[in-house]
Amino acid sequence: MNMFGKVAFIGAGNMAEAMIKGLLSSGFADANNIYVTNKSDKNKLEGLKTRWGVNVSSNKHQVLENAKIVVLGVKPQDMEGALNEMKGILTHEQLIISTAAGLSHEWFENYLGKDYCLVRTMTNLPCQVKAGATAVTMGCNTKDSQRFIVDALFSSLGIVVHVKEDMIDTITGLSGSGPAYVYLMIAAMAEAGEQNGLAKEVSFQLAVQTVFGAAKLVKESGIDSNKLVQLTSSKGGTTLAGLQELESGGFTKMIGLAVKMAAQRSKELSVSY
Ligand SMILES: NC(=O)c1ccc[n+]([C@@H]2O[C@H](COP(=O)([O-])OP(=O)(O)OC[C@H]3O[C@@H](n4cnc5c(N)ncnc54)[C@H](OP(=O)(O)O)[C@@H]3O)[C@@H](O)[C@H]2O)c1
Repeated sequence: MNMFGKVAFIGAGNMAEAMIKGLLSSGFADANNIYVTNKSDKNKLEGLKTRWGVNVSSNKHQVLENAKIVVLGVKPQDMEGALNEMKGILTHEQLIISTAAGLSHEWFENYLGKDYCLVRTMTNLPCQVKAGATAVTMGCNTKDSQRFIVDALFSSLGIVVHVKEDMIDTITGLSGSGPAYVYLMIAAMAEAGEQNGLAKEVSFQLAVQTVFGAAKLVKESGIDSNKLVQLTSSKGGTTLAGLQELESGGFTKMIGLAVKMAAQRSKELSVSY
């Protein structure tokens, strides 16, 4: 199935590859309709071609020509340079999807003009395994049909929520940066198991499955996560002893601060561009 027509990826980094992998494995796009370019790293492009069978080129014109969707997967600080190289090639009909943290609709309008159909997104790395979380703010020129495409594209990679643009910094701190908080927790749990005598691989497997299973249970049961904390921690039991230790170290407060600080950094980045 190829639902979207030609899809052009500008940038061939972590986020672009995560999206390409998700799109291909969900069957929403064919490799021969995906075109990818980057700034200069030819090996990276060849790697993508070998792994996923997509088309790669260092020629932006070739990549953008007749593309229905253009995904901007470059770092915020490189966006201006990338857009400069696309001037005169991007069209008003193309649906342009920015994945960049910190670059507002206003920033793109100032840079490109007001006539482009731009969507700002904040997605995350698990879209690689179709378990991403993407927040979307549609631009003022986007049509209903394009909203449908954006929803189809990102729901093939996980969940999609539509939000007002002023929520994007908070979302960056929560779900954009959030996977890293969870990876840190997995690493800490695995290390603790190892320090207490488990084999490294066994400890890692148990830590990963615990986080995966816990998230799956919240998602599939629909039970509130605070209720699940209660259900798993009986008076005088082992879990309660662990939870009390976590809270005495300020676990909930620290997670709150991590989200807040990452959101603040996102805000700082957006004013610096
Ligand atoms: N990684 C995450 O977890 C995450 C989460 C949420 C949002 N995001 C957002 O996703 C975007 C991409 O992040 P990333 O982690 O994928 O970055 P990345 O791995 O560093 O990849 C950036 C890509 O942009 C390319 N690039 C730079 N200048 C270019 C130009 N002028 N023309 C074409 N391509 C150009 C680079 O090419 P070369 O290699 O040739 O220089 C590279 O392929 C960022 O804006 C980030 O804010 C990332």
